Amino acid sequence: MATAATDKFTPDVDIELVAQPDELQLLPGRPTAVWRYVGRVLKGPADALQTIPGSYAGPIFRLKTGQKVRIRFLNRIRQPSIVHWHGLIVPEQMDGHPRDVVPTGGEHLYEFEVRNRAGTYWFHPHPHGHTGTQVYGGLAGLFLVSDDEERAARLPDGDRDISIVLADRTFDAANQLVYEGAMGGGMMGGMTGFFGERILANGRPSLSFPGAAGAYRLRLLNGSNSRIYRIARSDRKSLVAIASDGGLLAAPVTRPFLVLGPAERAELWLDFHDESAGSRIALIAEPLDFGGPGMGMMGRGRGAPAQPAAPQAFALFTIGKGAGRQALPNRLADLALATVPRETQRREFALTMGHMRWGINGRTFEMEAVAPDERVRFGDTEVWEFSNRTSMMAMPHPMHIHAAQFRVIERLGTPPGLAGLRAGFLDGGVKDTVLVLPGERVRVLLTFNAFRGLFLYHCHNLVHEDMGMMRNFRIA
Ligand code: C2O
Ligand code: CU
Ligand code: CU
Repeated sequence: MATAATDKFTPDVDIELVAQPDELQLLPGRPTAVWRYVGRVLKGPADALQTIPGSYAGPIFRLKTGQKVRIRFLNRIRQPSIVHWHGLIVPEQMDGHPRDVVPTGGEHLYEFEVRNRAGTYWFHPHPHGHTGTQVYGGLAGLFLVSDDEERAARLPDGDRDISIVLADRTFDAANQLVYEGAMGGGMMGGMTGFFGERILANGRPSLSFPGAAGAYRLRLLNGSNSRIYRIARSDRKSLVAIASDGGLLAAPVTRPFLVLGPAERAELWLDFHDESAGSRIALIAEPLDFGGPGMGMMGRGRGAPAQPAAPQAFALFTIGKGAGRQALPNRLADLALATVPRETQRREFALTMGHMRWGINGRTFEMEAVAPDERVRFGDTEVWEFSNRTSMMAMPHPMHIHAAQFRVIERLGTPPGLAGLRAGFLDGGVKDTVLVLPGERVRVLLTFNAFRGLFLYHCHNLVHEDMGMMRNFRIA
């Protein structure tokens, strides 16, 4: 177990992060039992961690590219756990692989340099078979990275830099969380996922921003176990997106709505300078339902959703006076169009179903196993194709790769009934998770030039992941 601090590593920021049980007043009446991450800065700037008052959502890490961070993780929940830094590129022993779980009372020491560009990353548990339960219980937080390029873009900051984690939850009559994951959801639950009845923002039904004026940077994470959202403005004006999972887009793009699958992030530029004082503008998260088993490829509004939830106005802005004007930069980052070098190695990963379980190329997770077609050469650039064409059951799968950020280069085979959703993707940006719709083949371009070792790739529908829709790959 890597728990002893090394003298070779001198951290700029030293943090203690505890996963522990707690009780919070989320609904009127009885408090809700949750798990949450509680953090403390031991060394370095105090604002490296920011707590969200009254929320189970973890502390927000705020670090800069190039900073060295040490995080001592203490597990005080009654299940084995380990923390994964989703989207961050770190050495294998720091990545939170399920084989590194620590028991209740155990700890794990992370030491790494922040190598990623500025962006909205996050962290969550990654024990095999229990990730869904633990994330659902409240263990997740944002990890925000800034860098010089981002500072040069002069985006709204301070209280104009807003972070919202969307997640769906079901509460029982005593206000306690209900989760039916891999084992509890019955056969169908394991195949579709878990869909909570209420959509929450940072653990609250909605967030209010009175006296809103001028421009905001709004970071969104879909922290749901399985649910996909369509996000739009209540006044039907289009959205301006400035960043995807792995940081700023080359330039702002306009979208009628956004589609955000589990683990995906998007950043919006919201500008209220020409809205009249007193008007109210909401952001709405509408669940996207894809129908149940045997229903074929269904778009929004058709077919029976697994478990419905009402659309939720999760952020409410009441426009105030004195809306200052801040110009939206027309260039955000130096991000070239992704081009595939000739002779690039290609691999196909078929999203498969066998014995009532999702898999990848017909396989399910094995703790240390790496198949011959899961070995990549350090330094190589490859095209990975995720092919969602099983005839058994039509479901979207949010596919995630560790140890790299990627570019989406092609999205093929979108069925006509789902083609409308494409207007809501941020495929032009840097990504680490991509929603692969039923019938689609999505090709991503990635380079394995950071670290050698054993890393994961998997579906981020946490019910699918816990049931084994996850594999190792080795960079050697
Ligand atoms: Cu966010 Cu392997 O996970
Ligand atoms: Cu990850
Ligand atoms: Cu899946």
